[in-house]
Amino acid sequence: MTARTGLRITDLTVTYPGPRTSGFGRRSPITAVRAVSLDVAPDETVALVGESGSGKSTIARAIVGLVAPSGGAIEFDGTSLLNQRDRWARRNIAMIFQDPRSALNPRMSAEASISEAWQAHPEAAPEGVRRDPRRRRAAVVDLLAQVGLDPDVAGKRPTALSGGQCQRVSIARALALRPRLLICDEAVSALDVSVQAQVLALLVSVREARSLSMLFITHDLGVVRQVADRVAVMRRGELVESADAQTLFADPRHDYTKELLAAAVDLDVSS
Ligand SMILES: Nc1ncnc2c1ncn2[C@@H]1O[C@H](COP(=O)(O)OP(=O)(O)O)[C@@H](O)[C@H]1O
Ligand SMILES: [Mg+2]
Repeated sequence: MTARTGLRITDLTVTYPGPRTSGFGRRSPITAVRAVSLDVAPDETVALVGESGSGKSTIARAIVGLVAPSGGAIEFDGTSLLNQRDRWARRNIAMIFQDPRSALNPRMSAEASISEAWQAHPEAAPEGVRRDPRRRRAAVVDLLAQVGLDPDVAGKRPTALSGGQCQRVSIARALALRPRLLICDEAVSALDVSVQAQVLALLVSVREARSLSMLFITHDLGVVRQVADRVAVMRRGELVESADAQTLFADPRHDYTKELLAAAVDLDVSS
């Protein structure tokens, strides 16, 4: 049995090809993430913060395999997520994106979106769902209930649902393979303010109920205070500071972290 060590990122570097220049100009590559090391322990919630363009989403994409790193290692419970051979280990990790509508296929019902992964990962699917439509419906309705949605949502497409409902469907879909780690990339940022609090509360209760680890990417430091055990601060592709949440808020070390906190306080005052 492998030890439960959680997510371990070591010296991760991700480089994108630069914008295509006209004529015979060379593409100059952009290093979006540079030598970042970051762990998320079992049951731990780590907030990843930093200004727009600092590389937060790129780290998330590298973890779930949407971009290939140019250097470094990413492991979950000691198994590399980068080896083709061990790609199954990725199913321990699920991601929720910022825009719930573009994350869901507009042509697919909630039931189809949620149950899709069971075809690709029969080993993680509930008993019988691949052959028996009634069992599949029951398993989907069970997941919908866990995210606070009625059974009739199963037959609906994204256009028939509100933004908050779509994000709940995305969360149900993320839970379908019983992941150990949930990555939330600005998962509540695109929602109406009143809905943000509800979806945030849902994420927190799901995390508690399932003992999930969480990598919570956000530019909203108010949210960080509510959810995070530890905070990692990104700036221009590099990790500048990582500390226990209370310590970071009370006694930030890096100038950039101080700036971020000061900016957040300004926002609080003006709102
Ligand atoms: N697909 C891409 N191709 C080229 N550059 C990209 C791509 N995605 C992001 N970048 C660049 O990488 C840097 C980090 O972006 P990103 O990870 O999205 O930051 P964040 O999520 O913190 O806003 C930015 O400079 C961005 O312009
Ligand atoms: Mg981003």
